[in-house]
Amino acid sequence: MEVIIRTNADAAAELVARIIAAELRANPHLVLGLATGRTMEAVYRILVRMHREETLDFSLCSTFNLDEYVGLLPDDAHSYRHYMSEHLFKHLNIEARNTHLPNGMASDLDAECRNYEHSIAKFGGIDLQLLGIGRAGHIGFNEPLSALRSRTRAKALSPMTLSQNASLFGGPEKVPRRAITMGVGTILECRRCVLLATGAEKADIIAKAVEGPITSMISATALQWHLRCTVVVDEEAARQLRGAEYYRWIFANEPEWAEFR
Ligand code: F6R
Repeated sequence: MEVIIRTNADAAAELVARIIAAELRANPHLVLGLATGRTMEAVYRILVRMHREETLDFSLCSTFNLDEYVGLLPDDAHSYRHYMSEHLFKHLNIEARNTHLPNGMASDLDAECRNYEHSIAKFGGIDLQLLGIGRAGHIGFNEPLSALRSRTRAKALSPMTLSQNASLFGGPEKVPRRAITMGVGTILECRRCVLLATGAEKADIIAKAVEGPITSMISATALQWHLRCTVVVDEEAARQLRGAEYYRWIFANEPEWAEFR
């Protein structure tokens, strides 16, 4: 795992967008794993700008989102399909048929989850998975005690997640109780992971995810196992990292990061 600390949230999002752009330019057929949530909005704004101003081309790219609520129609304003379309897809030259999210309206959710895994495999696996982190440490909707080898499945959302997303739905009782999510095991198979966390409210969980022991109570700790995981944070989210100075030294000295400094 590597940790990169940027001065503020905009600079952190900019770095993540540049990592994605570099991967896409190197491989136009990139299979990109996407996340939703407030943190990602800045990344998607920058990718849209890069598409418009720097001709970043998504025409051959395919995407797989981490998760979708159970019981919401794709055009429901709260669905993640709608979020992705509004924040990213409709602004890019990406083929709609190459954008994938689990279908939370499927009559057979288990079959839908199996099919989602098959589709990822059919596309050759995910090259780069973008991740956020919930305040209880979930990646995707892998809530506390998610098995570290779990695959795509429907999961009940934790009270913490319901309260975290309540304002978006106009109250915790309106947040769907379940979601389909890629599993921790699915995420660990992605060839590269980039996790973005910004703001003081993420400082505690980032310290636990990066420096704490691996535990299924905090699914993000499983990323310590990943062979190529980059965690990008702003100063506020980095505040409780004991090794911050060491991480800065690595970033300043690893040749891989020269073009991003
Ligand atoms: C959503 C997802 C979640 C979010 C996390 C952080 O697709 O995968 O794990 O990334 O809940 O959400 P925000 O950015 O709103 O704090």
